Amino acid sequence: MLFLQKVHPLNFEYVRELSVHGDGVRIAGSSFAAQIRCDEIGNFCTRLRLRNDALGNSYDYSDGICEGYRQGHPVPPQLDGERARFEASHRIEVAGAELTIRFSTGLVLKTVSEGIGFNGDKTIVNFDVTHARGFYGFGERTGSLNKRGESMQFWNVDVVLVFPHTYARDDYDPAYVAIPLVILKVGKEYCGLYFDNPGRTLMDVEQMRQGQLIYQAMTGNTDVYLIAGPGLRDVVRGFTKLTGCAEVPPLWSMGYHQCRWGYRTEADLLELKEKFEQFDIPVSVLWYDIDYMEGYRLFTWDREAFPDPAGLNRRLKEAGIRSVAIIDPGVKRDPGYPVYDSGKAQGVFCKTASGRDYVGRVWPGDCVFPDFSQTPVRVWWAGWMARFVQESALDGVWLDMNDPATGYSLVEDMRFQNGTVSHEAYHNQYGHYMAKASREAFDLIDPNARPFLLTRSGFTGTQRYSAIWTGDNASNWRHLRMSIPCTLNLGLSGVAFNGPDVGGFMGNTTEALLIRWYQAAFLFPFFRNHSMQGSKTQEPWAFGSDCLAHVRATIRARYRLLPYLYQCFCQHYLTGDPILRPLLYEFEGPGYEDLSDQFLVGSSIMVAPILHGDGEGEEVLSRGKRCQRRYISIPPGWWFDLNRGEWVEGGQTLRYAAALDEVPMFVGDGAIIPYDNGLLSNRPADFDRIELHVFSRGGTARFDYVIDDRETRGYQDGVYNTAAINAEIGDHEIELKIAEEGPYPKDTVTFSPVLYGHPGEWRARVEGNGQARRSVLKASTREWVCKRIDVRA
Ligand code: GLC
Repeated sequence: MLFLQKVHPLNFEYVRELSVHGDGVRIAGSSFAAQIRCDEIGNFCTRLRLRNDALGNSYDYSDGICEGYRQGHPVPPQLDGERARFEASHRIEVAGAELTIRFSTGLVLKTVSEGIGFNGDKTIVNFDVTHARGFYGFGERTGSLNKRGESMQFWNVDVVLVFPHTYARDDYDPAYVAIPLVILKVGKEYCGLYFDNPGRTLMDVEQMRQGQLIYQAMTGNTDVYLIAGPGLRDVVRGFTKLTGCAEVPPLWSMGYHQCRWGYRTEADLLELKEKFEQFDIPVSVLWYDIDYMEGYRLFTWDREAFPDPAGLNRRLKEAGIRSVAIIDPGVKRDPGYPVYDSGKAQGVFCKTASGRDYVGRVWPGDCVFPDFSQTPVRVWWAGWMARFVQESALDGVWLDMNDPATGYSLVEDMRFQNGTVSHEAYHNQYGHYMAKASREAFDLIDPNARPFLLTRSGFTGTQRYSAIWTGDNASNWRHLRMSIPCTLNLGLSGVAFNGPDVGGFMGNTTEALLIRWYQAAFLFPFFRNHSMQGSKTQEPWAFGSDCLAHVRATIRARYRLLPYLYQCFCQHYLTGDPILRPLLYEFEGPGYEDLSDQFLVGSSIMVAPILHGDGEGEEVLSRGKRCQRRYISIPPGWWFDLNRGEWVEGGQTLRYAAALDEVPMFVGDGAIIPYDNGLLSNRPADFDRIELHVFSRGGTARFDYVIDDRETRGYQDGVYNTAAINAEIGDHEIELKIAEEGPYPKDTVTFSPVLYGHPGEWRARVEGNGQARRSVLKASTREWVCKRIDVRA
């Protein structure tokens, strides 16, 4: 494997001849002949298809783009002297080896003069990015937010197995998920290039050659989807239109998840349930790692450790706790084991070139791998999974080792579709298709229920089937810091529902690290503590009462803010906007281009967590307490500091000290944050009474609130209402006007306002959807989330 080696641009031959033939532009050199075609995709995107004559239709293998956008309308080329032009919504010009893209917004992106080239199976496109300042997306990545100066491979790996030595580092590459998308920021504008090729590809951003973005495909033809800005939001919305959004998941999956590779028996699970009760911490999901199985055989339970798994899961469910079990792809090669026998009989396993079932070596020892690229195999898998989930009374599945991890066996020996299709064509999509197959299991169980799946590996569009967690990280401060840009870039790449192992998976966490990790991640879309067997335990109570109090505060604060998070999930489904966003999603300015340690949740909450401790980084004594200090960039406008209960003027950088129980967190002027002030429990509440926390210095605030049944997939058929909420602040009176529209029953939610930053006695008037009342608001300034927000008013 050539993980550190790249293809040198000088080893390619670049286009020398050009002619126009029917639908395409013929390009050639002495060593290759190829074609460029252009299609208009759904009136918002233009596609360039680069087709090397020496290769087949490898783009047919990709499941990245939603089916409805694969076809496109061909745009024929016109010859103009030595140049060929495609007059699509983005205008394309090919002049020899040089390509020019004029986006509909006016932005022009060009390749260098040696722009398009080939070398046998390989393709190269070299863009001139001298004027670009920011490079984002790229799927799941280590390192920082802006990828300028980095080189990234798209080839899914089981990171720990492939790079055991890099675990103390935060710059390993590749990772578990391949999404070959780059979003460029040129001046104040953005544009997106998505290279649809499921094979092994690479993007080098000014590492190899200054001023150049080099795309390389090691094999297979590439479709380049061109997505216009002008804003980052426009590009992300365009890309998620092409590749799909996450469905709105079940409410419980937005709660807190507790996991560890090391919960081995029924007694372990019951003890966890009791501990969460004892310490008054809500928990919505407990997880089963591999030890629940009998000899790591899929779809079995170790009956000694778990005599009645369905009974246990029902008991947990009565307490409001859902259960999710890990499922790996490797089926133990074990004649007599029904799953293996049935798969063997139906010929579902991947093959080698020699025609045998491909064998890998993972947890169960020798194992074989379902070929999820085939529809009948997905049907076979979905049947087994649906039966298992139902019989075990499980609520969700966790798909792991699907990079695919084949242990000591060379992964490239695995071929698809009875050995007729090379490994490359589906390698990056193995996890993706496993997720697709598993998602089908949930349709068999109940086509109207919301499924929950989590996968380690994925490709472009995997969000249509599953959430993603960012794999095996380590319990150290570097990996805590890395988790923010990683989650942000995944979100910009379409995978909104994602998150890291909170506390770190490998190695031993410390008290300070655990607290700071919870504080950084408690509003991440996916919020799960997970750790490796043999490491120090890291449940919320693992470090005694102080740590417990701080961690509990973050978990409870998440439940308080679930109504807001739920709205963020709905917005993602409706628009493609990520849940966790870099500041440059909402604000323009060079100061945000490289900002990796702050983020927005939705558009209104900004978190700038403390990401150092244990003697590392800046520490000061402030107000008699030991505090960690950091810089915080406050965007334009006014922001309410939830930690200190005061307004801060934007456009400045603060030097901010926070004690161990404090999370620097700000809400923008004009925001309304939906909040649950009911009794907290494991089972997220009904949301029938919602507090609207109003942050307004300027006198007005607004929010569009989606109301649906929060349980079924009815919203996908449009069965939801939108309540346009407008708040106006007058003379000691706040007025809320609510206009609810849509086919869902009206008035199912009662809203009441809570005002921040305006002390004293306030009257409130709520008008609309059946409510018209005046009351005296006790609400004044509430204190910061982690300390007080989880206390009922
Ligand atoms: C892999 C997973 C990890 C899991 C372990 C055992 O390393 O990434 O989350 O705990 O396998 O199943």
